[in-house]
Amino acid sequence: MEKIRHLLATDLDGTFVGDDAGLKQLLAYYDTLDEPVALAYITGRHRASVIELIDEASLPMPDILITDVGTVIYHGESLLEDELWTEKMTENWQPNNILKIAEGISGLTVQNLPHQRRVSFYASSAESAEALKISLMKQDIPHTFIFSSNRDVDILPEGGGKGEALKFLIEHYVEKEAGILVAGDSGNDLAMLEAGYPAVIVANARPELTDIEASELLYRASSSYAAGILEAWQHFYGGR
Ligand code: GLC
Ligand code: MG
Repeated sequence: MEKIRHLLATDLDGTFVGDDAGLKQLLAYYDTLDEPVALAYITGRHRASVIELIDEASLPMPDILITDVGTVIYHGESLLEDELWTEKMTENWQPNNILKIAEGISGLTVQNLPHQRRVSFYASSAESAEALKISLMKQDIPHTFIFSSNRDVDILPEGGGKGEALKFLIEHYVEKEAGILVAGDSGNDLAMLEAGYPAVIVANARPELTDIEASELLYRASSSYAAGILEAWQHFYGGR
């Protein structure tokens, strides 16, 4: 795969997906540019669930697909798994211990996922999520903890997450000096929005992103979903 020169790295639900007309406009705009903009989808969904959404919402196939909250990276036309990243994500990973610890905490329901590259729960309250966080820390389980949408608890391998996966993707697949835009709408996007690249928080973002510190690299769009991405692209890279 040739190195990417222009990249949109975007969350799907609530960001790239949510407003069909806005998405059409964004893609039509990219078509008018002299050079192609590569697409990386960085999502909490697992692979099969992304493929379903791509079908349902008629999304373009991405050049890079990062699933499971930044724990699996696929690339190229046939979306091959990046084995180097997989190695990093599996060497210190203890999903069964995490599940065992969670059994002792009330208000957590295990999400039904096709594999254990991450362990996720639905929490009935922020207190249940916090209790799991504390137990994992006390028992020295290497992990990354993410609570988002006031409901989803994702326990990821240490060094995992959308931010770290994005940095890996940029290091391995993207040219230096490339034009990059990162887009998101909720708490599981926080790490990638703050990874040090031009980023947009779309107008419909969840309140959990309200308090992020302003910076020159972080644009708050006044439009929602894909229209907000287009607005930010033009902000950072000009209205051409
Ligand atoms: C998506 C995934 C879910 C995850 C959540 C937050 O909704 O389907 O498994 O917990 O994102 O990352
Ligand atoms: Mg989202």
